[in-house]
Amino acid sequence: MSPVIIEPFKIKVVEPLALLTREARERHLKSAGYNLFGVPAESVTFDFLTDSGLSAMSTEQWAAMMRADESYAGSRSFQRFESAVRELTGYRYIIPTHQGRAAERILFSLVVGNGKVVPSNCHFDTTRANIEYSRGEALDLVIDAARDPQSEHPFKGNIATRKLEHLVRERRADIPLGMMTITNNTAGGQPVSLANLREVSRILHEHSIPFILDACRFAENCWFIKQREPGQSHRSVREIAHEVFRLADGCTLSGKKDGLVNMGGFLALNDEVLAQRARNLLILTEGFPTYGGCAARDLEALAVGLVEVLNEDYLEYRTKSVAYLAQGLNRAGIATVQPPGGHAVYIDAGSLLRHIPAVQFPGQALACELYLHGGIRSCEIGSAMFGKVNASGAFVPAPIELVRLALPRRVYTQSHIDRVIELAGEVAARVNELRGLRRTYAPEYLPHFTSRYEPIEAAALV
Ligand code: F0G
Repeated sequence: MSPVIIEPFKIKVVEPLALLTREARERHLKSAGYNLFGVPAESVTFDFLTDSGLSAMSTEQWAAMMRADESYAGSRSFQRFESAVRELTGYRYIIPTHQGRAAERILFSLVVGNGKVVPSNCHFDTTRANIEYSRGEALDLVIDAARDPQSEHPFKGNIATRKLEHLVRERRADIPLGMMTITNNTAGGQPVSLANLREVSRILHEHSIPFILDACRFAENCWFIKQREPGQSHRSVREIAHEVFRLADGCTLSGKKDGLVNMGGFLALNDEVLAQRARNLLILTEGFPTYGGCAARDLEALAVGLVEVLNEDYLEYRTKSVAYLAQGLNRAGIATVQPPGGHAVYIDAGSLLRHIPAVQFPGQALACELYLHGGIRSCEIGSAMFGKVNASGAFVPAPIELVRLALPRRVYTQSHIDRVIELAGEVAARVNELRGLRRTYAPEYLPHFTSRYEPIEAAALV
């Protein structure tokens, strides 16, 4: 197979890349308290902080946006959006929201409460936070292989079905719904197999428990099913997606990922009574049911994006780019979570920066150096994000120190990725010179967004 990746598009509008000096980036990083959420985007060359909301839109999406009907009620754009979503998912009631977490908030505030538990493979942070905000428990039941970064299991997003069956037997009355995140972002953008989705659907439905997908990366998940699952290679990704959605009773979906848009999402349901209650809540905080939290032009772009994302040339380019980045990093001596996921590469910073203890945030130190050296912005997913100080004041690190490089869709080319591999390789070659960080400020919740740090100077080390 040719190692050259063909980007299945040509470029019509361009945006300059910021190519700053290391000294300029040092100034930005220092004033941001060594937190990459605080540096100006115009000081970043390769922005891999997230894949969310950064997609480059197509000519067809821009054209559809110009045709949008911005009527408050009953707009033509809503009808187009509704039929695109209905065609894809088969769900009866389609409720637009401004992004994924708004759909989550509406759904959970209706069905979750004290003593309730919502199982999933792994809940994403906002999903977990919304369940907990509704005083429920968000339970992760992913298979054990997902916890091992080097396991090559092809579907590390799967639920341990035996654990799910056990939970359902023990606590049926406390489970308002069961979920599955496709792909499983928290465990490395790993897919869920069709067999596992069928089995979860069977278990939940046997107990009359609604099954809801967190489907924001559904197309990447269905592409992996076609590539990796025995008996699926002859089907189109669209056909697989049709089956996947129809195994469940509804979904929350952030359009900012596989919807190929910058803003937008939806809640889709088959249950008429629940949908009615969701619409009433939607009106309270998001907007009228034919626009939700979106402009009509957002709904138009999403309707087109949901079709374009299932193009198999695109999906091949997409997943090959991610795998190519992972392989290049591995060749440069940088271990990554295996196999590479659908939207991001996760560097095992703990194994690369063995000389920096977790309490000095090795992942954050690596993320800072990737920025200083190459203008690469990544996101630490380790002790800076999940480390806690316990009741006796001791620091409890995260189980694993990762740095995520998430690729925005249709934005970077193979030569960009080649340069990133080169730059990361240069950092890895002198990794022993890197120093840890001391945290100087942490907020009460979600510390990764606003914590501040300072470098631990060589002289301060013993
Ligand atoms: N579910 C998953 C699996 C996600 O990855 C995200 C967002 C959401 C729900 C929430 O969607 O941002 O539209 O409200 N993930 C982004 C990320 C932020 O960087 O992984 P949203």
